Amino acid sequence: MFKLNTKLIVTASVVTASALFTAGCMDDGATPVITSQVASATSVASIDGGVMYPVVNGKTSAYKVNTQSQGMKINNGRVPTANELAAWDTDVMHGGIGLPEGSGSVEEGEEIYEAQCVMCHGDFGSGGGGYPALSKGNAAQLQKTLTNNRWKDPEADGPTRVFGSYWPVASTMWWYIRDGMPHTKSKTLSNDEVYALAAYMLNINEIEIDGEELDDEYVLNREKFLKIKMPNRDGFEPNIDGVNGLENVRAYYKNPKNFGAKKVKVSERCMTECQKKSAIVTRIKNGGISDFLPPMSVSRDLPQKESYDQGFNTLKSYQDNCMPCHGAEGMGAPVTGDKDGWVEVLAKGLDTVYKNGIDGINGMPAKGGASTSDAEFKLLVDYMIEESK
Ligand code: HEC
Ligand code: HEC
Repeated sequence: MFKLNTKLIVTASVVTASALFTAGCMDDGATPVITSQVASATSVASIDGGVMYPVVNGKTSAYKVNTQSQGMKINNGRVPTANELAAWDTDVMHGGIGLPEGSGSVEEGEEIYEAQCVMCHGDFGSGGGGYPALSKGNAAQLQKTLTNNRWKDPEADGPTRVFGSYWPVASTMWWYIRDGMPHTKSKTLSNDEVYALAAYMLNINEIEIDGEELDDEYVLNREKFLKIKMPNRDGFEPNIDGVNGLENVRAYYKNPKNFGAKKVKVSERCMTECQKKSAIVTRIKNGGISDFLPPMSVSRDLPQKESYDQGFNTLKSYQDNCMPCHGAEGMGAPVTGDKDGWVEVLAKGLDTVYKNGIDGINGMPAKGGASTSDAEFKLLVDYMIEESK
C-alpha cells in the first residue's frame, strides 16, 4: 500500500492510469470514461496502450519529464496529488478491506469474458498462446493441493500455479482483474463487471461458496465473496510450529535465540545487524530443518493414485496420441508389442525412459505432443511397456 509520507515519483504509466481512473467515477462502480484530453494534450498513445511524452526536439519518452524536480536528482515523473494516490491505492485484501459493494452473475461474467477476455485466455479459460489458463480446476477436487503435495505425497502432482488451483485467497483474483485486466485496457471494468467475472472464474474452476455450486444464475456479491474458501487457503503456511505441529519444529521455535534473540526473552530480540553478529543468530539454512517428526511425507493416506487420473482413459489417450507413431513400424518409434524393441529401450532404466518421453528425444516430441500431466503420460508409457511384454 502506498503512503504519502515519502516523496513518491509518479512515472508516466502511473500518471496515465490514475488520470484515466479519476476521469471516470470510481465509487459508484461506473466504467471510467477515458477522456481524449489525456491522450492528446501532451502525448501520443502508443500501440500497447502506454503513453509517450514529448521530451525535446520532437523526441518522445515513456516518462514525463518532471517539471517540479524539487532538488531531487531524478527528473522523471512528479509528486502525485493526494487524489491520484487515493485512486491508485486500491488494494483488495483478504478479509474484505478494499473490497467494494457490487454484484454480478456467472452468466453476465461469461458474456463479458467472451467479449473481453477470451481472445487471450481461451475458451472457458483454457489458456494457450502464452496466456495463463484460468480454469485449471479446484485443487481440492483434483487432489492437487499444496497440503497433499507437501505433506502426504510428494510424488503427487502439485497445483498448477494459476488462480483456481493455486491462489490461497480469492481477493487477489478480484483485485487482479479490476486493476490489471483486460491486459491492454486495465482499470476499465466496473465493480459489478468484476463481480460477474469473479463469479465466472469460480464457476469454471468449480469452486463452491458455502457448499453452493455457482450455476449460471448465481449472483455473487460482496457478502458471498467473503465466504469463499480457496482450496489452498492453509497450504502455504502449514501450521508446523503450533500445538499440532511437529515436535522438533516446536522445540526450535520455543527458543527465541534460534531466531535472533540475545537472550531467551522475546523482549531482547536482535534488531540491528543481526546477521553480522552471527554468533547470536542461528540461521536456518536451506533445508535446515530436515529431521521432521514425524518425517515429511510418510503418511500416504491419500486415495490410490489411480483416482488422480479420474476421467483419464489410458487406452483412448494412447490411441489418440501415441498409436499414430508407436502403433506400427515405419515411424522410427519403438512399436507397442515389440518385445525386443522395448527391452532395448528399457535398458536405459525406466526413469530415463519416462524423462525422455516427457522432454522429447530425437523423433519423439515432448509427451508425444499430448497435453497430459506427467502422471498421465507415465500411465501411457506403462501401458505400452505392459503391452510389449
Ligand atoms: C491482451 C491479452 C489479455 C486479455 C484481453 C486479458 N488478459 Fe488476463 N492476463 C493476460 C496476461 C498476459 C496475464 C499474465 C500476466 C502476468 O503474469 O504478469 C493475465 C493474467 C490474468 C489473471 C491471473 C491468472 C493467474 O492465475 O496467474 C487473471 C485472473 C486474468 N488475467 C483475468 C482476465 C480477465 C477476467 C480478462 C477479461 C476481462 C482478461 N484477463 C483479459 C492477458 C490478457
Ligand atoms: C510423432 C511421433 C510420435 C508420437 C505421436 C509419440 N511418439 Fe514416442 N517416440 C517416437 C519416436 C520416433 C521415438 C524414438 C525416439 C528415439 O529414441 O530416437 C519415440 C520414443 C518413445 C519412448 C522411448 C523413449 C526412450 O527413452 O527411448 C517413449 C517412452 C515414448 N516414445 C512414449 C510415447 C507416448 C506415451 C506417446 C503418446 C503420448 C508417444 N510416445 C507419442 C515418436 C512418437
